[in-house]
Amino acid sequence: MKPPLSAFLIGLLSIDIYWVSIMNKWKKHHPRKTAARDTKEYVYAQLIPYIGNKRKLLDIINDAVELTGVKKGTFVDLFSGSTVVARFAKQLGFRVLSNDWEPYSEQIAIGTVVLNEVPKFTKLGGCENVFKILNDVVPIEGYVTKHLCPSDDENLNHESDRLFYMRKNGMKIDAMRELISTWVDEGKITSLEFGFIMASFMYSASYVSNTSGVFKGFHRGWGGSNGTAQYRICSDIALRPSIILNNGKKNLSTRQDAGKLVHNLTDILEGIPDIIYLDPPYNQHPYGSNYHVLNTITLWDKPDFPEKITRGTKSAIRLDWRTERRSAYNYERKASQEFQELIDNISAKFILTSYSTEGNIPLETMMEILGSKGSLRVVKREYVRYRVSPTRLSPKPRNVEFVVITDTNGKPESKENIKEIVADLRRIDSEIIVVGGKKKKDGDSTGDAENPLKYPNLLYIRNDLWTLYDSMSNSDMDMFEGKNKPRRLLYHAENPLKYLNLLYKRNDSRTLHDSMSNSEISESEE
Ligand SMILES: C[S@@+](CC[C@H](N)C(=O)[O-])C[C@H]1O[C@@H](n2cnc3c(N)ncnc32)[C@H](O)[C@@H]1O
Repeated sequence: MKPPLSAFLIGLLSIDIYWVSIMNKWKKHHPRKTAARDTKEYVYAQLIPYIGNKRKLLDIINDAVELTGVKKGTFVDLFSGSTVVARFAKQLGFRVLSNDWEPYSEQIAIGTVVLNEVPKFTKLGGCENVFKILNDVVPIEGYVTKHLCPSDDENLNHESDRLFYMRKNGMKIDAMRELISTWVDEGKITSLEFGFIMASFMYSASYVSNTSGVFKGFHRGWGGSNGTAQYRICSDIALRPSIILNNGKKNLSTRQDAGKLVHNLTDILEGIPDIIYLDPPYNQHPYGSNYHVLNTITLWDKPDFPEKITRGTKSAIRLDWRTERRSAYNYERKASQEFQELIDNISAKFILTSYSTEGNIPLETMMEILGSKGSLRVVKREYVRYRVSPTRLSPKPRNVEFVVITDTNGKPESKENIKEIVADLRRIDSEIIVVGGKKKKDGDSTGDAENPLKYPNLLYIRNDLWTLYDSMSNSDMDMFEGKNKPRRLLYHAENPLKYLNLLYKRNDSRTLHDSMSNSEISESEE
């Protein structure tokens, strides 16, 4: 049997491992190199840690693509987020259209999916020169420094300081971003060149952030009180050119509401898309608020916030997600209807859908909607979850990840078939896991679970909340940043179960809990 890792264990492989491995990859390669040495490198290079990203699901997405029988043709990623799936499709040889309505995502797509070669930057003396100028820029005290950084990196005032970045990095971000704006204003860079720089900026601005990847809050102290992630948070921000892969196709990037874009896809692509991949949000947490800092750096519109923390402005979450990008998929009441309309309006030979078994759209409803459009096949991967705590267990031994393939030329599915498909997925994904810790007396809301760090003794994970953990661990955002040094974790990464056992045997499972209580994340401001 394949020795699969449980999502929980994956979650324990800290963000540090992620960053360290990415750093090592970078170190191995010449910093000036920008063409992909191998396709894998292209797909995984400079990925921002993104909730719900499908980095770890590419194998089943690949299986699903293979089952369609489509070899090349067009691939539309309608909710492309980090762009990892769009890149994967590009690497498979498809002409790719990458869409997401978040501004940061659009720029990442331009920099990594649209471009087939490194832009010339003719007016600025070439790519290497551009990145050198940016990295050598004289720091200034601008919007980011004033609003998102403390007044003094050494003497933090937890009442009034926002700690998204160390001041030194905030000043660098300000200087680099102002310079980029000047280049735009003076016509020295094209929109593609802008995207190429911004894709890299998004990654580096995530890397040095004093967060676990999500900007809804920041650590108390650099890297949390334990300082586990100090090595990246305290490093000096630097931009590096994105890795480029040339698929010889005219790839595209759009920044639209998926529900609207589907009406125009056939026109844009001059033909019915072969494959449309759907990965809509499945819980109530809006991406625009989770990644507000990336949007601020991208848009550079300096939203109006008090420079220091005031009541209700701790995380300085820009408000446009509420007015411009409030996703129906974030609401239980609206998600199914939105999805129904999306599917009704889609023209494509195949629709591939990733979703959670516990998302806002009930599994049955989702399958009915997809099944009404054509015949269904499901590619799934189930894996055993290890029991990780000796204290409290109600094991959910298995978990399922799946991609639904809808063949729009096939016969719509019967009610019986749909029932069977759903029952099959449910059977695999039915039980509840409770891993250690005390159960919170007054019940646990989803909001709490998103921020388990608030409850030091609580590691009580409800079935639906696993999804959240799964997505977190998919993007390697670690909820358990603790005392463990990255090196030690790396050493044990080969066998995380062994590592966990060691942890518990030594009766220092408290490490886990302590690390949670110490890495305070600020209150959500939604
Ligand atoms: C689950 S994430 C996609 C993750 C992506 N597949 C990856 O691997 O990184 C969902 C994405 O949908 C986007 N989104 C939400 N509602 C949208 C809408 N109505 N139109 C376009 N994009 C939307 C969010 O910004 C987010 O990036």
